[in-house]
Amino acid sequence: MRKKYLHITTFGCQMNVHDSEQMAVLLAEQGYEQTEDSTKADCILINTCSIREKAEQKAFSELGRLMKLKEKNPDLIVGFAGCLAQHLGARVHSRVKNVDLVFGTHNIHRLPEMMEAVQKERKPVTEVGFSSSLHSLGIFAPPRDGAISAFVSIMQGCDNYCAYCVVPYLRGPEKSREPEDIVGEIEKLAGCGIREVTLLGQNVNSYGKKSGRGDDFVSLLKKINEIEGIERIRFTTSHPKDLSNELIGCFGSLRKLCRHIHLPVQSGSNRILKRMNRGYTAEEYLEKTARLRRVCPEISITSDVIVGFPGETRKDYQETIDMMEKIRFDSVFSFKYSERKGTAAGALSGKVPEAEKRQRLKELQALQDRHTQEKNTSLEGSVQEVLVEGPSRNSRQDMTGRTSCRKIVNFEGRPELIGRTVPVRISRGYLHSLRGKQISS
Ligand code: 5AD
Ligand code: SF4
Repeated sequence: MRKKYLHITTFGCQMNVHDSEQMAVLLAEQGYEQTEDSTKADCILINTCSIREKAEQKAFSELGRLMKLKEKNPDLIVGFAGCLAQHLGARVHSRVKNVDLVFGTHNIHRLPEMMEAVQKERKPVTEVGFSSSLHSLGIFAPPRDGAISAFVSIMQGCDNYCAYCVVPYLRGPEKSREPEDIVGEIEKLAGCGIREVTLLGQNVNSYGKKSGRGDDFVSLLKKINEIEGIERIRFTTSHPKDLSNELIGCFGSLRKLCRHIHLPVQSGSNRILKRMNRGYTAEEYLEKTARLRRVCPEISITSDVIVGFPGETRKDYQETIDMMEKIRFDSVFSFKYSERKGTAAGALSGKVPEAEKRQRLKELQALQDRHTQEKNTSLEGSVQEVLVEGPSRNSRQDMTGRTSCRKIVNFEGRPELIGRTVPVRISRGYLHSLRGKQISS
């Protein structure tokens, strides 16, 4: 029998990357092998993101490009998945002809039967219904050969309704997985050679709150900390309003918890934070980050910031800049506000002109680059524990890995080191990575 090939293009967050891994597992059971080469594929899936307008445009231009392959090969199956598919549903078919499959974030587990329906009936299938079950999260994605790091979804959806954000509409209400299922999955991953897990959720800090069982995020972390073979635990994303003192304390007490937190601040202006419905003030955010640094002085703190939210004046923007000066993040993902249909912010007055948003973003990014460079330079001379991930992309003599703080380190080394944690003395801090030399442990 001829081999069947699957090509997946993924846009957006780590959650989407993980969803794509699960799609690949389900189709592997149907004999599909993954390929980077879209021209040799029998099935192409585009896993989309809808968080900002740019992500939507990118997904549609990729779909247009890949549909050209279908013109040449009518047997090719093309699927449009993820948040944007969830949002548009059957409207995808009217925007782009001949897409075979449109499915949302709650329907991944049904991919095999949807594929069968497409193959048998040769007509488009659309599945974007919400389900209250957690089927899609429970699919076990065996790690690729040699992988040492894996994502584990611990919850789905979000109940926070930040005024700018479409996620609660597209991923549905927040629901946590059972702790036993999560622990079981991580034990299995450890058995496959995984050394590092990243726990995923839109707001992991509120894990288990709705279950009424008293299994909160801290108790989950403590259980995972006990799993043999797992050396490092990471999680993302944290919401500042739900970051408890107990969780902050874990950065001092849990040996395997990595010294990094991604804690999106979005704005440094209390007026804007209120309009965003974020549920904390700039002072509370400052207090929590100060507490994190008291518990774990070397912790790396990264963040997300939006500029040009409706009503953001130059003064509000300056307050964000002032906050960044005070905190000095290790790095920041920064975005121009992008209006999303159906969100509360869409109805707010005080739209900021595009040119002004662009200018604010440029200034903010220049400032952050200075801070990131300063942080990385300050690590020169220090010894960092690096979990080696594989050969470096730029040089065949080099290995690459990450520090506990999640900084990339390149150093001269041999492939035998992959999967091991080795001490590396940092010789140079660049903007996006560090360079160092392995020292004997
Ligand atoms: N416009 C700009 N940025 C947004 N984000 C979410 N929604 C929007 C939007 N409508 C950003 C936030 C969030 C990150 C994942 O994307 O900063 O933390
Ligand atoms: Fe969106 Fe806010 Fe939920 Fe994050 S917490 S996914 S920004 S609504």
